[in-house]
Amino acid sequence: MKTVGIIGGGQLGLMLIEAAKSSGLDAEYYILESQLDCPAAKVADKVLIGNIIDYNAILEFSNHVDIITWEIEHINVEALLFLSRQGKLIIPHPEVLEIIKDKGVQKQFYKNHNLPTAPFLIVDWTISIQEQMDVLNGDLLVVKFRTGGYDGKGVLIMTKTEFLEDAFLFGKDILIEQYADDATEISVIVAVGQDGNLVTFPSIEMYFNSNSNLVEFLFSPAQISEESDIHSKEIAISAVKALKSAGLFAVELFLFKDGVIWINEIAPRPHNSGHHTIEGCVTSQFLQLNNILLDRKLGDTSLIKPSAMINIVGPEDFEGTYKYAHIDWLNSQKGCFLHDYGKTLSKANRKLGHITVMSENMEQLIQKCETVKGFISVKPS
Ligand SMILES: Nc1ncnc2c1ncn2[C@@H]1O[C@H](COP(=O)(O)OP(=O)(O)O)[C@@H](O)[C@H]1O
Ligand SMILES: [Mg+2]
Repeated sequence: MKTVGIIGGGQLGLMLIEAAKSSGLDAEYYILESQLDCPAAKVADKVLIGNIIDYNAILEFSNHVDIITWEIEHINVEALLFLSRQGKLIIPHPEVLEIIKDKGVQKQFYKNHNLPTAPFLIVDWTISIQEQMDVLNGDLLVVKFRTGGYDGKGVLIMTKTEFLEDAFLFGKDILIEQYADDATEISVIVAVGQDGNLVTFPSIEMYFNSNSNLVEFLFSPAQISEESDIHSKEIAISAVKALKSAGLFAVELFLFKDGVIWINEIAPRPHNSGHHTIEGCVTSQFLQLNNILLDRKLGDTSLIKPSAMINIVGPEDFEGTYKYAHIDWLNSQKGCFLHDYGKTLSKANRKLGHITVMSENMEQLIQKCETVKGFISVKPS
């Protein structure tokens, strides 16, 4: 029996292990995490305590497992590169992580491979910033920290004038992108087996609240033309092929009204935009990654019904132990599935769980999501 080692013990690790256990896969799952109090510890066969950014902790972890993967990008990539050179099976290949963990390197990778992406600038602080910004059209731009960001932290949208006023405040390791104005955000999850076989999941669309302009939920299939659907999959596949690695990859894309597509970024792991696949697809993103890790045949990714996913996040007005309101109501709803990640404390905007909502058609699905969204909340306990 093989032992899979997952670096990181968050909810993605939890759901990866749950998928393996509920499908009766013949493998053990160890996680590397800095503390026992983490979502994946509840289902892992073993928790090894260690710092995921520590070189030696990853080396030590590798002695206990046959296959290594990760569920978070902020880990020690040098250790993984060393282990890979020693012949350890690591999926995806750590060189992928080296490209992706720095948004500047990632952008340059797309450019070098002629993959469409937002015009961008890795600021050269020795020459005039204003002149460098000429490559960016329009007045809005997006400033991104090259490393360490997640869930929108480390991403700021502002005007060129605002940026020029305070440019030095951002520090030197930033990337500036042209703002994707009036674009639909979609994502395509691509699975690549160890034998090179490749499948895509049905495309996913982010649904923004028209008042707050925040992502309210994600749904699949994306409501886009067949032509755009095919085109987005072609671009996602080309991008993933350029990475030359087995693994599960979520390709985030901007789709413009005229059909133009830009790649925003790639996540080399299961992704928030694929959580609905647990109930919504024949094979979930998590089972598919297990298939890849254990060198099994890739599963059918067909969507069973239109599906959506609502994140449950910690409110901004308190930090501490918590409970969900209206749980009984939710559990009595047909086609609604609550996933609680079992985190001890709620913090502002921390992902605590999610709800999958399924319906016969898109109109009903969107209506049902609005209702669920209105009912579910997190309260101090
Ligand atoms: N060039 C851009 N134009 C418009 N919106 C953007 C752009 N880049 C990022 N965003 C918005 O910010 C969000 C987070 O940015 P992203 O680079 O995906 O960071 P993260 O790593 O936090 O997911 C995106 O989902 C999108 O809504
Ligand atoms: Mg993103």
